[in-house]
Amino acid sequence: MDVHVVDHPLAKARLSTMRDARTDSAAFRAALHELTVMLVYEATRDFPVRTERIHTPVALTDAYRLATPPLLVPVLRAGLGMADQAHKLIPDARMGFVGLARDEETLQPTPYMESLPDSLADQPVMVLDPMLATGGSMEFTIRLLVERGATDVTAVCALAAPEGIELLRESGLPLRVVTASIDERLNDSGFIVPGLGDAGDRQYGAR
Ligand code: PRP
Repeated sequence: MDVHVVDHPLAKARLSTMRDARTDSAAFRAALHELTVMLVYEATRDFPVRTERIHTPVALTDAYRLATPPLLVPVLRAGLGMADQAHKLIPDARMGFVGLARDEETLQPTPYMESLPDSLADQPVMVLDPMLATGGSMEFTIRLLVERGATDVTAVCALAAPEGIELLRESGLPLRVVTASIDERLNDSGFIVPGLGDAGDRQYGAR
């Protein structure tokens, strides 16, 4: 499984704003929006393009577009804060939705919503979730996609725990991970350390 850490000063600066406990909800959302642009930009770097010929005001030249825009799948709630920015970068992408809440005791993801196309054969998919902690939510989401035929999945996360990366690696699922950081570890409550707290709560308030 390929893991790409976007190691860039501007990405680090946005992630630092998100980590800072003094950052309020509006500033947290703004930093996540900006970081999402950088992560999606990097995540699409090697996507195939198709070319066509266009006229500039001066001459004929090649024009480029993504050959197959990915299906964007934000994982609610926290992934909603990445959806609009990803969609702005890839305006012709379709969007699906998965809603999961992690049980605070068992840390298991409980699904409450699923809105996905029936068939994802030959359809690249980009899953958006700011946090990969135990990896349970991402694994659950990717299994939903694979059941529909997906074979090309990119998980885009602001930050990840080594434990979550390992779970996905061991799952053997067809995916790669793009993130701005792999943090130190998970604590006993399943929070990423140093992390940023709960990305859903920090954007939208405690449930
Ligand atoms: C958080 C986060 C991920 C998940 C990560 O969501 O946004 O979806 O936990 O944890 P995992 O890797 O251990 O599964 P949460 O369940 O808190 O829901 P929310 O987005 O509605 O706040």
